[in-house]
Amino acid sequence: MASPQIDVNEIVATLEQIRQRGHSAHTVFRDWVNLVLFALQDRDDPYLEIVDDYRERGDMDHPRGQRSVDLFATAFGQLQERMAATDADVLGAVYEEYGMSSDAFGQYFTPHSVCETMAEIAGVGGESDTDDRQTVLDPACGSGRTLLVAGRKQPDALFVGQDKDPLCARMTALNCCFLNLDAYIIQGDSLTVEFQRAWQTSYSSLGGSVRELDDEAVEELREWVTDAFENTVEAEDQPSPTQGTDTGAEDQASPVATSVPSEQASLGAFEGSD
Ligand SMILES: C[S@@+](CC[C@H](N)C(=O)[O-])C[C@H]1O[C@@H](n2cnc3c(N)ncnc32)[C@H](O)[C@@H]1O
Repeated sequence: MASPQIDVNEIVATLEQIRQRGHSAHTVFRDWVNLVLFALQDRDDPYLEIVDDYRERGDMDHPRGQRSVDLFATAFGQLQERMAATDADVLGAVYEEYGMSSDAFGQYFTPHSVCETMAEIAGVGGESDTDDRQTVLDPACGSGRTLLVAGRKQPDALFVGQDKDPLCARMTALNCCFLNLDAYIIQGDSLTVEFQRAWQTSYSSLGGSVRELDDEAVEELREWVTDAFENTVEAEDQPSPTQGTDTGAEDQASPVATSVPSEQASLGAFEGSD
């Protein structure tokens, strides 16, 4: 179901102008997400590769302000405005709305009200009987909607999201960066515990940042997430509905709130691993 409470018409209309130049909706949305993600990481080379693709297809023939690269930038400005106004998963709502015309998108995310309930059931933002930092894991995070809801309830927690869909993982990384959360976002299958790539987003008083982890850091992250999840499950005599032994039942995984010793939560293990 789309998210009718979030008005994304303006953003969709901007992206639609690009699509009408002969691109598929999925290509336009994917390129937009990648451009934003590369721009936020100051990664000029992959950013310019995408720009060059559009240039080779005659993008410079359009007047300034109407080139596809300009429209992508306009859509990003509109996204920031909508996020500031709603604090919600605007990116996921655009994906749902824009993707209605195309099978290539193929995902529907959890309605915001259900995300609120799931975060409450998982105990996010509630009293904790330990001083350890809370960790919120979502092994099938979609666009990161439940993590965003949890992030508003408990912004000082550490968030970990995983999704096997590359576009979903990227949307979640952007959402966690926009919400200025400390998070690790993994692209990979949570059932087979395969990690293909991962991003770290970090809180700062000036706003969030995002960077992609290198292979070594991805492997460290995989070991840490596996241990953290196994310890959480083992600690429960009777697994509760939010702490099942399955890390990612297709489309039914619930977020899990757990706590990790503060030395693990320091993020130090992954620092300086560019
Ligand atoms: C209903 S959607 C997203 C729900 C999400 N928790 C939210 O907050 O909106 C389910 C997601 O699970 C992902 N998924 C399904 N099986 C998976 C698996 N084995 N590993 C990782 N992600 C998976 C899909 O790609 C999809 O994005």
